[in-house]
Amino acid sequence: MLQIKDLVAGYEMRKKWVAAVDHVSLNVKKDDFLGLAGESGCGKSTLAFSIMGLLKKPGKIKSGSILFKGKDLTKMNNEELRNTRWKDISMVFQSAMNSLNPVMRIGDQIVDSILAHKMVKKEKAYERAKELLKLVNISPDRVNSYPHQLSGGMKQRVMIAMALSLKPSLIIMDEPTTALDVVVQRMIIEEIGEIREKLGFSILFITHDLSLLVEISKKIAIMYAGEIVEIANSQELYSNPLHPYTYGLMSSFPTLVGPLKRSDGIPGRPPDLSQPIEGCRFYDRCSKRMDICRKRHPNLIDMGNNHMVACWLYSGDKNE
Ligand SMILES: Nc1ncnc2c1ncn2[C@@H]1O[C@H](COP(=O)(O)OP(=O)(O)OP(=O)(O)O)[C@@H](O)[C@H]1O
Ligand SMILES: [Mg+2]
Repeated sequence: MLQIKDLVAGYEMRKKWVAAVDHVSLNVKKDDFLGLAGESGCGKSTLAFSIMGLLKKPGKIKSGSILFKGKDLTKMNNEELRNTRWKDISMVFQSAMNSLNPVMRIGDQIVDSILAHKMVKKEKAYERAKELLKLVNISPDRVNSYPHQLSGGMKQRVMIAMALSLKPSLIIMDEPTTALDVVVQRMIIEEIGEIREKLGFSILFITHDLSLLVEISKKIAIMYAGEIVEIANSQELYSNPLHPYTYGLMSSFPTLVGPLKRSDGIPGRPPDLSQPIEGCRFYDRCSKRMDICRKRHPNLIDMGNNHMVACWLYSGDKNE
């Protein structure tokens, strides 16, 4: 359904180019639940905005393609994009709940978003708004509430309802629940899973919380410094992480059983994306680095079992 091919996107600054998304290829199939994880600043939101055609200046897609049901989103004009956005692909933005209009009833906001894209009578849109609220477990009689009368979790549910309103086939969720406490976060995520089963759409779920993704998504892509460094099915990734970065992210999970141990995370910081990097981008922080890693960039290679990794530890052509 969605095929991202060799996408290069970033920010054109006065004297430098910030390579936030660097030659990324990624597929989302029908009914997929793909998770995208990586540290802050690795380019997750830039990738999401590129797919939505919402990357604003100085942001720019430099090359590559984003095919959605066979059509290249990067080549669409504004009119075509407007017809695809929200109807076919919608997005729940990072800290979205703050983007609700504080002086407008939530029902009216949902109705407006429906009417902006669909020719239906206002009463019908209103009925749909109530249905949507029910779907995200908010009592339909809250349609007349203002955002300040709702809790953070409810506001986030309203944003999810809005993303669902035009029955898109793909929803991008960029950290949809990180502002909430873990209990509400878990409830909402379980609900998203249930709604997905009911309505049948694909999800690209972005978060820095890999432990969460392992539980909820079918497939996981790990992003580091603008690149995808590993992709696998969730269980496979959990039981057999290959990239030293993924390994580091995994070992920062606290365990439920066994003695408590201090988690040190991954030492060091990601590289500056505005500087050209030769070799592997994880080199400085990697505990398993070899000489070749500093000199040559590792490409994603297929390890079988739908597992891809970009790391010289697994590549046979080190001596070529
Ligand atoms: N408007 C902008 N102008 C210049 N650089 C930007 C802009 N927005 C983002 N960047 C840079 O692009 C890189 C990727 O940012 P992005 O927001 O995509 O990361 P992210 O993975 O979504 O991070 P987070 O987990 O914190 O949301 C970062 O280095 C960031 O500093
Ligand atoms: Mg982000």
